[in-house]
Amino acid sequence: MHSFRYVDGSLKCEGVDLETLAAEVGTPAYVYSAETIRGNYRRLDEALAPLGDRMICYAMKANGNLSVLNLLAKEGAGFDIVSGGELFKVLKAGGRADRCTFAGVGKTAAEIDYALRQGIYSFNVESEEELEMINEVAGRAGLVAPIAIRVNPDVDAPTHKYISTGKSKNKFGIGLDRAAAVYERAASLPNLKIRGLQTHIGSQILKAPPFAEAVRKLTPLVMELKSKYGLEFFSVGGGVGIVYRGALSSGDAAWWKGSAEGSDDINSEKEGERLAPETYAAEVIEPLKALGLRILFEPGRFIVGNAGVLLSTVLYRKSTPTKNFVIVDAGMNDLIRPALYEGYHEIEPLKQCSSTVLEKVDVVGPVCESGDFFAQDREVPVLAPGDRIALMSSGAYGFVMASTYNARPLLPEVLVEGEKATVVRTRQTWNDLIVGERLPT
Ligand code: LLP
Repeated sequence: MHSFRYVDGSLKCEGVDLETLAAEVGTPAYVYSAETIRGNYRRLDEALAPLGDRMICYAMKANGNLSVLNLLAKEGAGFDIVSGGELFKVLKAGGRADRCTFAGVGKTAAEIDYALRQGIYSFNVESEEELEMINEVAGRAGLVAPIAIRVNPDVDAPTHKYISTGKSKNKFGIGLDRAAAVYERAASLPNLKIRGLQTHIGSQILKAPPFAEAVRKLTPLVMELKSKYGLEFFSVGGGVGIVYRGALSSGDAAWWKGSAEGSDDINSEKEGERLAPETYAAEVIEPLKALGLRILFEPGRFIVGNAGVLLSTVLYRKSTPTKNFVIVDAGMNDLIRPALYEGYHEIEPLKQCSSTVLEKVDVVGPVCESGDFFAQDREVPVLAPGDRIALMSSGAYGFVMASTYNARPLLPEVLVEGEKATVVRTRQTWNDLIVGERLPT
């Protein structure tokens, strides 16, 4: 579910007219719907309620704006973090360290020390050397570090190759064959407390069975570890996918489309079967319940993906013998998903025009790279300079992956709640771009 729809020819986010908002804050700009974020969180939590003891640790790498974190902390979410900086932000946003799990293959000693002193719930350990390092840092600090080992179940989940993680060729986790030995080593280290087992098979997965397959594959190991070391939790990771194609089509097809269509077969971000949280839950609840442990979930994209859009304005049009280009003011530095993962984002004009004539265009940004595009050979309504558009489903892995490439300041972020829109991050200025830079003396 999400809260973006056309009302009388204008695209709204909840009760806020996006064209009016764009005129006020300028473009490009990110806009998030609080209602959608809350709704997604609650819907997932309710679907998983039959599990009883559970914790949703929002994977904040997807969207780390303080107000998004604050909103989810108020809902009772925990957080899946991957750096000391992310923990710092969770704490600033009013989140609790004892509801944070710390993942990632390259935690530094300083980050481990910081997280330990803040009292995080668990370090999700990704290698044997990291395990030794956590033990050492904990010993120096005179503390005991709670750990889980990330076990790679070697399950193939269909998604883009850059965001698949659960195969043995990926850098993540420890193989199923090594896991028991690594737990044994962990049990022998004085400054560690074994708390759980974690897994994650990849991101933007639209089918539920691979999740259940991963759980089933890990079950014998989990049961063994449970009896040996008294495991407290099992984390099934994140990865629940969202619909990118036809993002507006759930009951309200965009005015210029008969129906949502995904014609070019770019990657897994296809229109079609959305993975409803209820479908996901129906598949995983039984194998998870059988473990008799607290169950953790680490959704990122599912919570925020369809809760955000990137607003942009058309600057120019340009034609070559083979292409029509529409040049907009947002670039790949603002939203890198199309360039990096061939990601697909629907393009919706903020104002409905009277004509339903479509033209095939490339929608491109101002960055000096051929990879700077949002759509290629896509049929969209005729767009003229000054027209504003929304790049849909940009709430996850949008702003967080932005850079200042080409000396382009970072964008503002706006949080909408009902009729109210709050700028929750201001647009960077050119001066911000040189903060910290110095000429040699
Ligand atoms: N847990 C772990 C250990 C992860 O590595 C990730 C994502 C998540 C949870 C959250 O996954 P999600 O529920 O959001 O699928 N930038 C890419 C996605 C990278 C995902 C990295 N890990 C994109 O824009 O598609």
